[in-house]
Amino acid sequence: MEKEVNRRQFIKTVAAGTASAAALSAMGPLPQAFAEEAKDQSKAPSFGGKKQFAGTGLVRMVTDDLAYIGVDDRRIQLFENVYPVPRGVSYNSYLLLDEKTVLFDTVDRTAVGPFLENLELALKGRSLDYLIIQHMEPDHAAGIGAVMARYPQVKIFCSELAAVIINQFFAFDPIKNGGEVIKEGMTLSTGRHTLTFVAAPMVHWPEVMMTYDTTDGTLFSADAFGTFGALNGNLFADQTDFKKESLADARRYYTNIVGKYGKQVMSVLDKASSIKIERICPLHGPIWREDLGWFIDKYVHWATYEPEDSGDSVVLYGSVYGNTENAANILASRLSDGGRRNVKVYDVSKTHPSELIAEAFRVKHLAFACMTYNMDMFTPMKNLLNDFAAHNLQNRDYSLIESGSWSPAAGKKMDAVLSEMKNMRKIGDTVTFLSSPDEETEKQITALAEKVLGAPVNVPEAPKAAATQWKCTVCGYIYEGDTIADDYVCPVCGAGKDAFEKIG
Ligand code: FEO
Repeated sequence: MEKEVNRRQFIKTVAAGTASAAALSAMGPLPQAFAEEAKDQSKAPSFGGKKQFAGTGLVRMVTDDLAYIGVDDRRIQLFENVYPVPRGVSYNSYLLLDEKTVLFDTVDRTAVGPFLENLELALKGRSLDYLIIQHMEPDHAAGIGAVMARYPQVKIFCSELAAVIINQFFAFDPIKNGGEVIKEGMTLSTGRHTLTFVAAPMVHWPEVMMTYDTTDGTLFSADAFGTFGALNGNLFADQTDFKKESLADARRYYTNIVGKYGKQVMSVLDKASSIKIERICPLHGPIWREDLGWFIDKYVHWATYEPEDSGDSVVLYGSVYGNTENAANILASRLSDGGRRNVKVYDVSKTHPSELIAEAFRVKHLAFACMTYNMDMFTPMKNLLNDFAAHNLQNRDYSLIESGSWSPAAGKKMDAVLSEMKNMRKIGDTVTFLSSPDEETEKQITALAEKVLGAPVNVPEAPKAAATQWKCTVCGYIYEGDTIADDYVCPVCGAGKDAFEKIG
């Protein structure tokens, strides 16, 4: 029975293109093509003399003997089936061409075909000696079976926990099949290069092991230092206007994927501070070889929950008919009138929570305006605040506006979630209004903005109604004013008051 279950699992992995050679042989009689593939690399089907995919493969050299063999994915809509990636994503994989050939991770199942083509091209007929598995999440691990089927002699190196997870996904124990467990501090010589390993639990799964090449100063950082977005041919961050074009993608990637684990990220950054890093090769996004300090500093801010833009405000509203949106806009306007720059306002029903989580990590002050729904927060706001808490957001200032048509309750509900988060400071009293903001609501919102800013806000006066107009019947000159003085004289033709007629 157990064998039958495993067989079904195996068939699933074959269908996914992830069956391993050992799993193949353990399963008894198997389809001939796979058995052949597993038996002898020289008989592996490779691409039958033709490229399976258009083009010539996309092997890029990071250094003289380190190749990038990853794949851009622009077809993906939702990364991890939850995060929109309108600019795509890259699944990075690296091949070290030393006396031993060393593969660092594979790719997502959707990218296995072009990845195998890159691997074959980069190897140029050499065998694949080592596969270092740093992270077992399937966006990097789905290609393990395909690699083992083509290169059955490859020796796997992975953490103890990674070996367990490999067995869970592939019904294959890499250690019982010639692999080796790597531990922090252990070294591996591949010829000219010496690799050492750095445990990075929860960055982003518990089994993660980063690799540091002590010879060239390359840190293979697994998910850390990744960025959403396809590479588009730009292998290195310094080949792009990263700060302008990609920082938001990097922030959204970090905060949503590992934002919860700031303590663990700081622990890895502490370890990294004692080694000389020349370049960082992450599993997503561009490689870093310049301005590393700037990017690491961003990580320190995110991992310690310190805002990057401590003078900025973000206003988040949940509104059904626009009245609470109106209140949010009034607050944003008062903050701007009071001197705050770059105030941002977001509709929580429309903006993806992953963008709002990234924004919440960016700024110090968050304002929430929410209508009452089922005696609770409006559902998208409730989901968002729970998401903030799940991502361990902390150390922020917040202000609240609530509305309702008979019994406003959203304020208390928001406060209950926010006040439970670590080191949160409420600024001002909750502003409450019924159905639609009125003049009194505006006053309260102005007072709230003043509390946030710690300074008075000069509210611009509303434009006055147009004055009455009088037309000179002699020359056509227009005079504006409620009345005309008895001694008024037209400045154009000199006619007296009696020559003017009221026109509006
Ligand atoms: Fe990119 Fe945690 O996988």
